[in-house]
Amino acid sequence: MEAKRLIGFYAALVLSSLVGCGTLARASCDFPAIFNFGDSNSDTGGLSAVFGQAPPPHGETYFRSPAGRYADGRLVVDFIAQSFGLPYLSAYLDAVGSNFSHGANFATAGSTIRPQNTTLHQSGFSPISLDVQFNEFYEFRRRSQVARGRGGVYEKLLPKEEVFSRALYTFDIGQNDLTAGYFLNMSTSEVKAYIPDVLGQFKNIVKYLYGEGGRYFWIHNTGPVGCLPYVMERIPILASQVDRAGCASPFNEVARVFNHGLKKVVTQLRKELPLAAITYVDVYAIKYALSSQPKKYGFKHPLRTCCGHGGKYNYNIHMGCGAKITVGGKEVLVGKSCEDPSVHVNWDGVHYTEAANKQIFDHIVGGSFSDPPVPLNKACHRIPSQ
Ligand SMILES: *[C@@H]1O[C@H](CO)[C@@H](O)[C@H](O)[C@H]1NC(C)=O
Ligand SMILES: *[C@@H]1O[C@H](CO)[C@@H](O)[C@H](O)[C@H]1NC(C)=O
Ligand SMILES: *[C@@H]1O[C@H](CO)[C@@H](O)[C@H](O)[C@H]1NC(C)=O
Repeated sequence: MEAKRLIGFYAALVLSSLVGCGTLARASCDFPAIFNFGDSNSDTGGLSAVFGQAPPPHGETYFRSPAGRYADGRLVVDFIAQSFGLPYLSAYLDAVGSNFSHGANFATAGSTIRPQNTTLHQSGFSPISLDVQFNEFYEFRRRSQVARGRGGVYEKLLPKEEVFSRALYTFDIGQNDLTAGYFLNMSTSEVKAYIPDVLGQFKNIVKYLYGEGGRYFWIHNTGPVGCLPYVMERIPILASQVDRAGCASPFNEVARVFNHGLKKVVTQLRKELPLAAITYVDVYAIKYALSSQPKKYGFKHPLRTCCGHGGKYNYNIHMGCGAKITVGGKEVLVGKSCEDPSVHVNWDGVHYTEAANKQIFDHIVGGSFSDPPVPLNKACHRIPSQ
């Protein structure tokens, strides 16, 4: 941080403690609930509830069985919920055994910000795009109050009205909007050209949520997709486009263009939504650090997947994690041979391991990857950004 920014930051702290009620001005935020929007990076069971469970060995490390997550264990959003003493979030689409009193998760694996013109079957992208996730939230907010009015178990499973303005609204979405263009054989410049439209749609959704009473927003930027085997295997690039970490530079550059735009959108939103506290979180930086300096973070394999089969990265789209394949006449479960996910950054070619997710959480929780640099548990305070 430059000196000028630091002074501004401390001046803001002093000011807020003078204006506010002393030390309480920056007290921890008592978020009673989390409403999450996103893709597989934060899906805790949405896609699984509708299109079938993510198969074993997903979930093996922590839940000991499939748990609706595309990982061996917990996701960053699980660690976020845990840090507030809240139970893990139920997926809004999961009709069985869910408890929404402390929030709901609208994310589904394969979600994009913009609705896609293809089916899940054709392209792998979820029909539950961010606009649909907002529609679900809108229904949930109203109908949860009607149902609570019936008393009994509904009061124990659904949030109170006041929760919606006190909750933390979290986002981790955008990665699939970038890959969607590449998978349609678009060039990097064609993908870059539609990023403003994607960001415009993202911005609208945050405004709609504010209109519904949301005040505290925690927005992850998008990760280095060029370090993920499913992208590196599927889209050919030149050897000169591979960086020192072994990642594909053009895709990471597109992710950075998206993130640069996202940060601008957040700045605009702060002006347009005077009562909102919005935190922009640079998960790209920490994810890239895990892939480029694995040893520093306790990993042996930065790019090679744990749960996969074949190829340079132990990843083959046709033999994905959990698939049953025949090897030497015997049926084998892909991923069964993955012995120690904790030394892999990448779980299945697309997603991070629980160990990587824990590292990501541990690095972002204190605020050093955020703008403004506030810790997660202070994300309800409006602090002038850098
Ligand atoms: C889907 O098709 C509509 C109508 O042609 C178009 O406006 C929209 O941009 C398309 N969406 C994507 C993600 O390409
Ligand atoms: C739902 O979760 C809340 C918060 O953890 C808890 O107080 C409540 O008892 C749970 N409801 C049921 C029916 O288990
Ligand atoms: C993209 O190009 C590949 C190779 O030429 C081709 O096989 C594939 O069908 C194309 N995909 C689309 C969506 O056009």
